[in-house]
Amino acid sequence: MKNLGPGNNFKKLQDQYISKFIKSAQESEDMMERGNLINILSPGRVNIIGEHTDYNQGLSITAAINKYIFITGYKNGLDSVEVYSKYLDDSGKFSLNNITFDKSKHWINYIKGIVNEYIQRGYKISGFNMIMDSNLPIGAGISSSASLEVGVAKFIKELFKLNVSDKEIVNLSNSAENNFVGVSCGFMDQFSVTHGKKDYVIFLNFKDLSYEYIPFSPGNDLILIINSREERNLANTEYNKRRKECNDAVRLISGLIKGRDINSLSDISPELLLGVKDKLPEKIFKRARHVVTENKRVLLAKECLLKGDIEKLGSILYESHESLKNDYEVSTDKLDYLVQELSKINGVYGARLMGAGFGGSVISIVKKEIVGEIIDKAGTGFLRTFNNNPDFIECLPSDGTMRVNI
Ligand code: GLA
Repeated sequence: MKNLGPGNNFKKLQDQYISKFIKSAQESEDMMERGNLINILSPGRVNIIGEHTDYNQGLSITAAINKYIFITGYKNGLDSVEVYSKYLDDSGKFSLNNITFDKSKHWINYIKGIVNEYIQRGYKISGFNMIMDSNLPIGAGISSSASLEVGVAKFIKELFKLNVSDKEIVNLSNSAENNFVGVSCGFMDQFSVTHGKKDYVIFLNFKDLSYEYIPFSPGNDLILIINSREERNLANTEYNKRRKECNDAVRLISGLIKGRDINSLSDISPELLLGVKDKLPEKIFKRARHVVTENKRVLLAKECLLKGDIEKLGSILYESHESLKNDYEVSTDKLDYLVQELSKINGVYGARLMGAGFGGSVISIVKKEIVGEIIDKAGTGFLRTFNNNPDFIECLPSDGTMRVNI
């Protein structure tokens, strides 16, 4: 269990919001004995490089980041769950005996999904009250969904003292999102949120979910996320289309290349792909080219990180963006604009769209001292061109979802 250092405002938050649920003096006394409360801090994630590789059994370099969802709560002795979100100033309640998808209150489905997973897997749980707050923006492409899922999964694990491994936390969180919430995703988000480590990034192989930590405490540099605030309307449908196109590519290529075990695009080298270019529909070739070259870029990026060559890493980020834009076709004018503008500023090492695409955020690695200049130049230009202000989020690698003492 971690001790949050001085200066955190979670205790204040807890005192402030816990009163929402307290119904009697006795209950209040019980709750104020802090031992009865479970507190969880769950980070967002960034993907340094390796986009649309997770569902292709490929490679990524990711990190949990120091922006969090905070969860606190306790057993309520009932068979229902009651939740208050300070961030949304909204609350919700559901019975453990009838967990169904809520069409009108989207956010509660993430909590229902996790509870449902535990129950379906045969774990014994009962009702609880939960309060949450966040400094992790929703919809910015930094995985507030995975952060909430893994946060709730760990909260329930601690509250009911369940014997659940991190591997199962990742699995059940991923399953809740795909099967209950109904948004398709690979393992990158839940894995990174669970396994993050302060001062390190995670080199991840999705073939077997094996991973390595690579030191990343960038000193005078930092990761700057720029949220275009463009709604990712197409994200789910187009995401599913891309997944299908990748499966089609595997089927067609394995039919063309005999005598080799090809189970995913990550079993194919760029050279091998080039050899069958003329026999593939152009779109399928381009999708496959993104994935196989992206895997290669991840390996190069890993070398750069190990050598501390941030300049070279930055240029690989720009290449990744070009590939996402031209071959995978998941970029938008706003994301392209941001990457373009950033590339003109001295002190920006590299930038690319991050996450599924079709809106959301750009990730960049920049010198700390030029953040003000970036906000000024890219922010003003963006406002002039698109008539809205992007958000700038400075972050550094953090530990994964953790229980904290307040
Ligand atoms: C979304 C999904 C991830 C991953 C990325 C693309 O963020 O949730 O699993 O597929 O898109 O890299």
